[in-house]
Formats: sequence, structure tokens, C-alpha cells
Amino acid sequence: MDEIPTRNLALELARVTESAAMVAGRFMGRGDKEASDQAAVDGMRYMLNTIDIDGVVVIGEGEKDEAPMLYNGEQLGTGKGPKVDIAVDPIDGTRLLSFGRANSISTVALSNRGSMLDPGPIVYMYKIAVGPQARGHIDLDAPVEDNLKAIARVKGCDIDDLTAVILDRPRHEELIAKVREHGVRIRLITDGDVAGALMTAWPESGIDILIGIGGSPEGVLSACALKCMNGEIQVRLYPRNEEEKKLAKKRGLPLDKVLGIDDLVNSDDIFFSVTGITDGELVNGIKYFGTGCRTHSLVMRSRTGTVREIIATHRWDKLMALSTIEYDMGDYPERSSGVP
Ligand code: FBP
Repeated sequence: MDEIPTRNLALELARVTESAAMVAGRFMGRGDKEASDQAAVDGMRYMLNTIDIDGVVVIGEGEKDEAPMLYNGEQLGTGKGPKVDIAVDPIDGTRLLSFGRANSISTVALSNRGSMLDPGPIVYMYKIAVGPQARGHIDLDAPVEDNLKAIARVKGCDIDDLTAVILDRPRHEELIAKVREHGVRIRLITDGDVAGALMTAWPESGIDILIGIGGSPEGVLSACALKCMNGEIQVRLYPRNEEEKKLAKKRGLPLDKVLGIDDLVNSDDIFFSVTGITDGELVNGIKYFGTGCRTHSLVMRSRTGTVREIIATHRWDKLMALSTIEYDMGDYPERSSGVP
């Protein structure tokens, strides 16, 4: 690594996810996933390019040709600062947002160059994530009930006091049945397992564990946040077919191994930010009020372990004088100024 990022880049990342969330939030309930994603990407890229970093996207929106938006390999930042890997998910839960459901968020993470796992063609991972109390007490190779019992033991509660987050997918039928058998409460989510993973380390959410198969990029982002929050995640790459297996082997990706948090992001200099788009257990969603909006973010840094909650009020009249992004959806200056 050429230069250790010494200043707290997490505070600058807050501006990145705020920017994405501010534009994406306009699309709540409008049933237009593509438009919301494009808006969030534009809002995110704009802010990332103002930061003094020499960044390259490792976890992005896919290969350049498939998704001409924050693609893997794209260079971002002013190019002046430390060399960093970047993981982005401008909207985790595009479907949640398009239906106006809870827990759609915007996230970004930075860590030193070469430290993030690039899962390449492997779209899914099997994941178990927990918060600080249960860290060191999970084992992805062990039966799920053993993990649940271990978490209950270390938390000093009964197994039926636990709450698990699981993506509501047919592929999880057996897993859900097993978890139910042990009386564990389940929060079945339709999307958004980054928020699910972070909730395990956020006591106010009341979530104890995230289990199941979800997106690989989301797994790396979750690892970045959980390292800052002193939680844990273990994963196994989950190829969907022979073709993915072959491609993974070609790249030397470990298919048979349980990957720990350090395998996903091998760094102690991680910076992470999440801003709510729609209301959720982790962060509140965007509130617009004519002359501006209010955002709620969590920003964190692994070296210090500090997690900051930032509630910010943004004013269109000031912002639009500085920015090329249309946060006010183009109807400024008809609106009156002033913040309630
Ligand atoms: P997007 O918002 O990028 O579509 O991702 C939503 C999500 O629910 C992730 O949180 C999760 O990891 C993944 O999709 C699960 O994939 P699938 O919908 O294919 O089961």
C-alpha cells in the first residue's frame, strides 16, 4: 500500500451516500428501478470524484459493458490521495425503493488498495453475520441450530428470544423451516441483506443474526461495515452452475473454503457510510420539505471503531448554487427559502 489513509474519510463518504440517497429518494414508490439506480449512481459518482483519493471500484455495478455505471475497474476520486479500493451499492434494495418499502439504503466503503475480495463471476454467497457479542461464536460449517444455540448462550438469552433476518426466497425454504423448528423469530425480508447484516451489530434493531444466500458484492460491503462495528461475517461462495464454477476456478477463487471477514476485506483501514433512502430499523429515510431535505446516515472507520450517526439538513438554495446534480428535481428557485 502506498499511503495509509490517515484522515477520517468516512466523514467525506457521508456526503457520497447522502448525495445518492437524496436523488434516489425521489423515486420512492414510482416503480422505476432503473431510473432510481441511475440517479443514485450519478449522485454517488459526483461526490466520490470530489474526494482526494486515488480510487478504483472493486465492488461496483458489474462489468463496464453490462452496466455503464460505477463499473468494476472505474477510477474515482481526484487521484491525489491514498490508493484505495472502493465498494459501492448506490441503492441496496432497488425493489424496496420502487415499491416504497422499508430499508432501502445507499452504501459505500473504502479500504486500502488490493484489500477487497473481488468475487468476479460469483453472484451469490451463503452468509452468516452477527454483531459484537456473538463474534467468535459462529461457524458456517456447523449446523444452523448450533450457531443459534451458541448465539443465545453468549447473549445470555433463550434461543426463542433471538431474531434472525433471512431473505424471503424459495431457496431458503429448508433453512427457514429449521430456524422455525427452534423457535427463533424470523424477519423475512424481500430484499436488502446489507441492512440485514448491519442490523445484527446495531442493538436498537433487535436483530441477532443474518443467515442465507445473498449477493456477493453485498457480502463484501457488509464485511466492511461489520469490521468497523466489531461484528463478524462468514461466507462461502455459492456458484449457481458449472459455468460459474469453472470461471471461479480460473480466477483462483476459493469455492470450498469458509471465508472470514479478513478474506473479504483484508484491511484495518476501512471507511464506510450508509444513508437511509426509505425508513428502516437501521436508519431513517429521506424527508423532503420543499426547501430541502433531511438525511440520516451512519459513518464508521475500522481503525478507531467509531460509528457516528449523522442527521443532516440540506438546503436546495445553497446546494444548487454549488452542484450540477438536480437534488431539487429542477424546480428551484420557485420555492421559498428557509428550513423548518
Ligand atoms: P439490488 O437492490 O441491487 O437489486 O439488491 C437487492 C438484494 O436483495 C440484495 O440485498 C441481496 O443481496 C440480493 O438482492 C439478493 O439477490 P436475489 O434477489 O437474486 O435473491
